[in-house]
Amino acid sequence: MEDRYLTFALGKGRLANKTMELLEEIGIHCEEMKDKDTRKLIFADEKHKMRFFLAKGPDVPTYVEYGAADIGVVGKDTIMEEGRRVYEVLDLGFGKCRMCVCGPETSRELLEHHEMIRVATKYPHIAKDYFYNHKHQTVDIIKLNGSVELGPIVELSDVIVDIVETGGTLKENGLTVLEEICPLSARMIVNQVSMQMQTERIRELIGAIKKRL
Ligand code: PRP
Repeated sequence: MEDRYLTFALGKGRLANKTMELLEEIGIHCEEMKDKDTRKLIFADEKHKMRFFLAKGPDVPTYVEYGAADIGVVGKDTIMEEGRRVYEVLDLGFGKCRMCVCGPETSRELLEHHEMIRVATKYPHIAKDYFYNHKHQTVDIIKLNGSVELGPIVELSDVIVDIVETGGTLKENGLTVLEEICPLSARMIVNQVSMQMQTERIRELIGAIKKRL
């Protein structure tokens, strides 16, 4: 039996469910977590000395950086946006989507001519890095907290930087992908000290998951 719990922080929702499915495949079970009515925030697999808690996606890298969780599962978008000091150890392959610059067709010209444009986004760091460091274009970044597609519709912004999965939201709102920034998917992240102190356990876990991907 291992000496201490290995603690996982999982981004609430689909990512957490997919992660638990994957862990079940390698024999790690947490039945309690499947109870949809539970208000509990933390669950354990006593046999493997593992604990799991659900957190808001953007908080997952925070828990992992500070060591409150040894391991986290969260989208690459969140990892990039939060910029925390954690090791990204594995691409889990689910939750695939793309970070894109989107807008109405009429905004394509603005992007091509490098004009001062307004960009609405939930991801100001990603947008800033893309426009300032990669495109060397000065833009005005406006932070929103969701339903970002509204930006160009109500003329708050010329374009948006957002996640595109099926493209359905864009289509229904008369917008299109103008530029692709990067592909995204769920990643496993590890606390830097845990990686040193629990190397064998964490490596074994990563190895077992890799075999299932
Ligand atoms: C995300 C994203 C897009 C949409 C993309 O929003 O911000 O709006 O999903 O998916 P699609 O290409 O399959 O249509 P989410 O549902 O997370 O909510 P939000 O708008 O509040 O961020």
